[in-house]
Amino acid sequence: ELERLGASIGRPVVVASVTASTNDDARRAAAGGAPHGSAFLADAQTQGRGRSGHRWHSPAGENLYLSVVLRPKLAPQALPPLALVLGVCVARVVDEVLGSSATSVAHAGVKWPNDVLVDGKKLAGLLVETALRGGKIDAVIAGIGLNVHAASFPEELAPRATSLHALGGRSLDRSSIAARLLAEIGHVARMFEAHGLGPFLAELEDRDVLRGVPLDVSGVSGTAAGIDPEGYLRVIGSDGTKHRIGSGSVTTHGP
Ligand code: BTN
Repeated sequence: ELERLGASIGRPVVVASVTASTNDDARRAAAGGAPHGSAFLADAQTQGRGRSGHRWHSPAGENLYLSVVLRPKLAPQALPPLALVLGVCVARVVDEVLGSSATSVAHAGVKWPNDVLVDGKKLAGLLVETALRGGKIDAVIAGIGLNVHAASFPEELAPRATSLHALGGRSLDRSSIAARLLAEIGHVARMFEAHGLGPFLAELEDRDVLRGVPLDVSGVSGTAAGIDPEGYLRVIGSDGTKHRIGSGSVTTHGP
């Protein structure tokens, strides 16, 4: 199905059984001239990675590991909000897949800057990497890890992770999920290139799981107050000071 999809959208789709990291596969291919939209999938990754040097749990047969080469005509400084937009993309596909078959209310949330959550648990993560050439963007590698079939997670992840299967999703065919993701990414990447974050702000607000939540991020302690039009996280500090956070890892404080 994927190869057919690749043929139909005129983009190569490469499916490996095992690879180190699909982001590395995509990066190498991009350096060799792979066109916008080229997609790399694997059944398992041996060096799957997440943000901040974390490992990404990538066992065989269970989940979706997808990396897409994008070639947006954008300046490097316009890029950070792309992770949010891709998060919206994943959330839309997740809602579609879970639909009414899900036991929980299917409404996937986006957690700034790069996670997709359902019922407070992480379902997917995004790793957006950039390849620069002469100070310009040569390619963007959009890496998506989506938990599909996983029935259990390693002990340290278990309380914080979930999968489409665990959420009650049925007929979870990874190829067709990947195909839907690729179609959505194609659409959304064009939108972002032309209009920036604007067209996504209302949906981001709707899906924002951090709004009103007490948290620590980049040395600031406070309460999240939404995502601004440039993709910054607004935080009202404990002393009432307003902050805009451009990047960082969020630690939330449970109720
Ligand atoms: C995160 O939440 O920290 C991001 C996780 C991103 C994981 C995906 S799986 C496909 C691609 N290849 C990788 O090595 N990482 C990304």
